[in-house]
Amino acid sequence: MIALIVAFAKNQVIGDKGHIPWKISGEQRRFKELTTGNVVIMGRRSYEEIGKPLPDRTTIVVSNTAHFDGENCFTAKSLMEAIKLAGNKDIYISGGARLYEEAMPLVEKMYITEIDCDIKGDTYFPPFEIEEFVKEINEKCEGEIPYTYVTYTRKQR
Ligand SMILES: NC(=O)c1ccc[n+]([C@@H]2O[C@H](COP(=O)([O-])OP(=O)(O)OC[C@H]3O[C@@H](n4cnc5c(N)ncnc54)[C@H](OP(=O)(O)O)[C@@H]3O)[C@@H](O)[C@H]2O)c1
Repeated sequence: MIALIVAFAKNQVIGDKGHIPWKISGEQRRFKELTTGNVVIMGRRSYEEIGKPLPDRTTIVVSNTAHFDGENCFTAKSLMEAIKLAGNKDIYISGGARLYEEAMPLVEKMYITEIDCDIKGDTYFPPFEIEEFVKEINEKCEGEIPYTYVTYTRKQR
């Protein structure tokens, strides 16, 4: 199973100057629940923001300029190489923008956290064909900045 997991603002912003441009307590709960025990594949800049392998799951970093390894951490030179490295485990593509765009045709599910406001940033989630997916609203979370967990499941091809 290949899925994509992302949080984006109303204006599709996912990042700014190498960071996630919001701090919302609890917002990453679903990321942890879904990815624990599985494989996350992320681009070099996204990995550098976190700075270390995520606990209790396998991290595969896609990069042609750097090499990261450690316990449960691997480097691949392309998305396809990363997918091969993951073997039979469930894969969660975890950003950034280029990786999301390249993975989009391959994903069966998109786990999206919709942040309920516009946010200034320099990195955007790529446009996608919404009619290729069925959207399910999973949970609305209120607070200073409300957000909603949604799941897009690809229709039968
Ligand atoms: N809101 C969210 O859910 C979310 C999730 C993830 C990231 N972010 C944000 O997004 C921003 C980072 O995203 P980004 O798009 O700038 O960078 P990124 O995709 O994380 O990293 C870019 C680098 O990854 C490697 N790479 C990515 N795709 C590749 C591919 N298909 N094939 C080969 N190499 C590939 C390249 O590394 P080399 O240059 O080393 O070859 C590239 O320079 C940050 O602001 C981060 O906070 C947000």
